[in-house]
Amino acid sequence: MVLMSNLNAKGATAALPPALLQVRGVTLEYATQERVVRATHRIDLDVHQADRFVLLGPSGCGKSTLLKAIAGFIPPTEGRIVLDGTPVKGPGADRIVVFQEFDQLPPWKTVLGNVMFPLLSTRSLPRAEVRERAQDAIAKVGLAGFEDAYPHQLSGGMKQRVAIARALSMKPRVLLMDEPFAALDALTRRKMQEELLQLWDEVRFTLIFVTHSIEEALVVGNRVALLSPRPGRVKAEVNCHDWDLHSMGGEDFQSAANRIHDTLFAEEP
Ligand SMILES: Nc1ncnc2c1ncn2[C@@H]1O[C@H](COP(=O)(O)OP(=O)(O)O)[C@@H](O)[C@H]1O
Ligand SMILES: [Mg+2]
Repeated sequence: MVLMSNLNAKGATAALPPALLQVRGVTLEYATQERVVRATHRIDLDVHQADRFVLLGPSGCGKSTLLKAIAGFIPPTEGRIVLDGTPVKGPGADRIVVFQEFDQLPPWKTVLGNVMFPLLSTRSLPRAEVRERAQDAIAKVGLAGFEDAYPHQLSGGMKQRVAIARALSMKPRVLLMDEPFAALDALTRRKMQEELLQLWDEVRFTLIFVTHSIEEALVVGNRVALLSPRPGRVKAEVNCHDWDLHSMGGEDFQSAANRIHDTLFAEEP
C-alpha cells in the first residue's frame, strides 16, 4: 500500500518524535552574472533517525543543491536546516556526501588509505583505531581482502563501495548520496541497491538519497519526496516501506511507479 500525502498537510508527522533533520522553508539560490537562479523554493522536509529518505525529481529540480545545503556547502537564502537541534552552519563530519563520480577516490591511495584518510584528518582518533574502523567498514561493504588495492584496479561498483565505506567509517548522523549509482551499468546498479539495503539493515544509518529514477526511489527509500522543477518544490511525499528489489516488475510496484510519474508530471492547477 502506497500512501500519498501532501507533505505540508499539518499534523502528518505529529505522532513522531522531533525529526533528526528538519528542513524548514528552505529557498536556495545561485547568483550568476546576469541573474539570480532560484534552485529550490521553500522546501519543508522532516527526516527521522534511520529513514531512507529519497529526493526524487527530474533533472534541474534542485536535488543536488538541496543536498549541498544539507551538507552545509550552500547557505539558504530563506529558511533553516536543523540537525539534531543544531542549525547547520557549514560542512561537518556529522554529514558525509557520496557522489556519483568514480573519481572521488584519490588514485594514489590504496582502498585502506582512502577509507582512513578523512577520519585521520579529523585528528579525533588514534591511528590504530582509525585503521580498525576503516577495516571494519571495508569488510561491511564486502571488500575485505582489497585493502591494498588501488582505485584503478577496481570496478566502478567496487569504487563506489569504497566511497560508501569511507563515508560510513566517519559514523555520520546523516549519510547523503547524490545519484550514487547513476553511472553504473544496470546490473551493477541493481546489485549496489541491494547491497545498500543490506548495509542499512545491518547498520541502520540515516540516509538521504537523491535519484531521478522512480524505480530506484521505490526500492531504496522508505519515504520519497517528489520534487518539481523551476524552482524545486516538494509536490508530495510517498511512503514506500513495502517495496524491495523483489517487488520490481510486479503489478503493485508498477502502478505505484505510474502514480508517482503522474504526480511528478501533472500540470499545475
Ligand atoms: N553553480 C550553479 N550556478 C547557477 N545555477 C546553478 C548552479 N548549479 C545548479 N544551478 C541551477 O539550479 C537548478 C537546480 O540544479 P541542481 O540542484 O543541480 O538540480 P538536480 O540535481 O535536481 O538536477 C537548475 O536550474 C540549475 O541550472
Ligand atoms: Mg543533481
